[in-house]
Amino acid sequence: MNILVLGSGGREHAICRSLKLSPETKRLVCIPGSPGIAQIAECPADVPGSDWPAIADYAASNGIDFVVIGPEAPLCDGAADLIRAKGIPVFGPSKAAAQLEGSKDFSKKFMDKYGIPTAAFATFDNAADARAYVNAQYDAGRELVVKADGLAAGKGVIVSKDRADALAAVDACFSGAFGTAGARVVLEELLVGEEASIFALVDGKTITALASSQDHKRQLDGDKGPNTGGMGAYSPAPVVTDALMAEVQKKVLEPFLAGIQAEKLDYRGLIYAGIMVTKDGPKVLEFNVRFGDPETEAVLPRLRSSLADALYKTATGRLAEVKLDWNPDPCVCVVLASGEYPAGPIVKGHVISGIEEAEAKGAVVFHAGTAMQDGKFVNKGGRVLVVSKSAPTIRAAIDAVYEALAPISWENMQYRRDIAKKALKHLQS
Ligand code: AMP
Ligand code: GLY
Repeated sequence: MNILVLGSGGREHAICRSLKLSPETKRLVCIPGSPGIAQIAECPADVPGSDWPAIADYAASNGIDFVVIGPEAPLCDGAADLIRAKGIPVFGPSKAAAQLEGSKDFSKKFMDKYGIPTAAFATFDNAADARAYVNAQYDAGRELVVKADGLAAGKGVIVSKDRADALAAVDACFSGAFGTAGARVVLEELLVGEEASIFALVDGKTITALASSQDHKRQLDGDKGPNTGGMGAYSPAPVVTDALMAEVQKKVLEPFLAGIQAEKLDYRGLIYAGIMVTKDGPKVLEFNVRFGDPETEAVLPRLRSSLADALYKTATGRLAEVKLDWNPDPCVCVVLASGEYPAGPIVKGHVISGIEEAEAKGAVVFHAGTAMQDGKFVNKGGRVLVVSKSAPTIRAAIDAVYEALAPISWENMQYRRDIAKKALKHLQS
C-alpha cells in the first residue's frame, strides 16, 4: 500500500524506517519530512507541511491508501477528520478525541470520570482564584505543579520549587507567557516516584500496549537543569515490571477504552500514558495522543513484526487481529542537541560530521532537526539527531550507543552521558 506520514521529527523518521521495513509498504511519502527522512521516503516539496486541507487533497489525488499522523498539532487541529472525510483510513484520533492532549482540563476530567488514577487537581480561569488555591494548598503543606491548559510546545508544565515559584507560574500563565494555552490553568498535586511511558494502540474496540520505555526530560546528567522535549530514552523500562504492566492495563488502559467508547470519541491511533510509579501504584501524569519523542526511537527499532500492518489494522478497526513481535534486546537512544537547547535561540548551520561512521558501527541515526546545505547535513533545530542501538543487555546497549555516537560532532553539540543509567539501578536491586 501507499502510505503517507505527516511530520518531520525523529519520531517520524523512526516511524518511516519501520514502515519502510514492512512488507505491505509500496510507496512511502512523508510531508513535510526532513533531509534524513528523504533518504527513505519521498518528501514532496510543493505541499505545505501544515496546510491540512492541502495535504488531504494531496492524499486523495496521489493514490495514498493510508495516512499516519505523527505530531499532536495536526491531530488537535482536526487533520485526521479532514483526511478520513476523503475516504482514506488514518492512524490518529479525531479532533474531539485529541483534546485528551490538547486540553489538560479535558484530560483530567476524563480520568476522573472513568476512575483512572491521577494527581488531584483543580482548574482556574482567573489569577485571583488560582493564587488563593495555591496559598491554601501550601498552607496545608501540599506542593503543586502548575500546568497551562492548552498545547504549549512542551513548555506549559512548571514543577514548582515552592509557593513563590507556583505563584509566579500562575501569574506567567495568566499574563500570556504561553499565549492562549495559559488562559486556563490546571493546578495539580505533586507526585513523587519514577516516570515511565506506556504506549498503546487503540481502534475503539481493542487496546494493545506496546513495549514500555522511559524518557529523560531534563537537559543535564542526573536529571538536572530545565525540562526539554526529551534527551534520550530506552526500552523496555525495568520499572515497568510485568505486575506493574498488568496494573496499568487494568487501571489505565481498560478504563481508557471504556471512556472513549462511552464518550463516543473516534479514537483510532496511539494513546501515550505518561505515568508516575508512586508508592500507591501507577498514576497518569498526562495523556498524549501520539507516539512519544524520543521514546519511539527506542521502542520501534525493537519491533520485529510489521508496523504498517499494525497501524493499518488499528486505523480500520481490526487491531484484535494484530500480534506484535518484539526483539527482547533492550534499545537505548541518545539525543544529540544544539548547545543552546532548550533555552535558545539556536545557532544553526554548523556542519555535522561522523553520521556514516556511527551507522557503520550498527547504530541507527534518526534526524530530528537537520538541514541539508551544500550537500552536507547541518544543525537546524534544538534536538538534532537521535542515535539508537540495541544489544543483548541494557549495559551493553548503553556502551554500544555511546561508542557508536562518539564520531558524531558539530560545533557546540551537547548530549547527556547517563541515558538509561536508571535501568541499571533496577537490575542491581
Ligand atoms: P507533562 O507535560 O504533563 O508530562 O509534564 C511534563 C513533566 O512534568 C512530566 O514528565 C513530569 O516530569 C512533570 N510532572 C507533570 N505533572 C506532574 C505531577 N503531578 N507531579 C510531579 N511531576 C509532574
Ligand atoms: N517524550 C515526551 C513526549 O513525547 O511528549
